[in-house]
Amino acid sequence: MTAPRNIVVLTGAGISRESGLHTFRDPDGIWQRVRIEDVATPEAFARDPARVQAFYDARRAQLRDPAVQPNAAHRALAELDRRWPGEFLLVTQNVDDLHGRAGARRLLPMHGELAKARCLRCDTVQASPPRLGDAPPCAACGAAALRPHIVWFGEMPLGMERIDAALAACDLFVSIGTSGNVYPAAGFVAEVRGRARTLELNLEPSEGTRFFDEARHGPATALVPEFVAALLEHLQAD
Ligand code: APR
Repeated sequence: MTAPRNIVVLTGAGISRESGLHTFRDPDGIWQRVRIEDVATPEAFARDPARVQAFYDARRAQLRDPAVQPNAAHRALAELDRRWPGEFLLVTQNVDDLHGRAGARRLLPMHGELAKARCLRCDTVQASPPRLGDAPPCAACGAAALRPHIVWFGEMPLGMERIDAALAACDLFVSIGTSGNVYPAAGFVAEVRGRARTLELNLEPSEGTRFFDEARHGPATALVPEFVAALLEHLQAD
């Protein structure tokens, strides 16, 4: 099989599970404890901003826990990003900072980032204070109106033009640690199949597993380093 040239990798909450962060839909997942309608929609924020801010403040505080570190899967993808000569885009649905802390550079957080806030008046994205309720005024316009820089249900994901261009050019698409429940990310495989080789690396079959040419099931910290090592061997061989 010839080596791929242009790679798109999509990740979900499963890649951060072994770093100690919960996923959303597993039995111990976040949506088993909190309702999406209460904390992850624009209507929820309009109705009770303090409750929404507290939800994201708590998840942001988790990222400062020394026990929460990038794992072998995050590090393997960062090495692939660093060494891959062709086009490479790591699209993550995750809002944690673990891919960035592992060293990924060609990284697109399509659902936003816990570490950032956004001004409701001028849309400027800026570093989030630890507690959004005590936020200073917007760094750009001075309004006292910051929201989490998180894409809520019903809102447009970030970077879709760049993602669509990368999907159009890729000949390898790899989906890691996502249940394939949320669009548009869940639809990426259907966009590329037939034109790109498609691979799912997940703890168990996802909603879209049947659309992939190949699916390997197991923990990301085992599957991802193995996958990356095989790809990089290709580089040496060719
Ligand atoms: N290694 C690999 N995969 C894992 C691991 C692991 N250690 N642990 C869990 N998984 C898999 C689960 O089997 C599941 O398929 O990760 C997936 C997590 O699925 P979800 O909890 O639905 O998370 P995700 O797919 O990222 O959710 C997508 O939904 O709630 C929104 O915006 C939120 O970005 C999120 C989006």
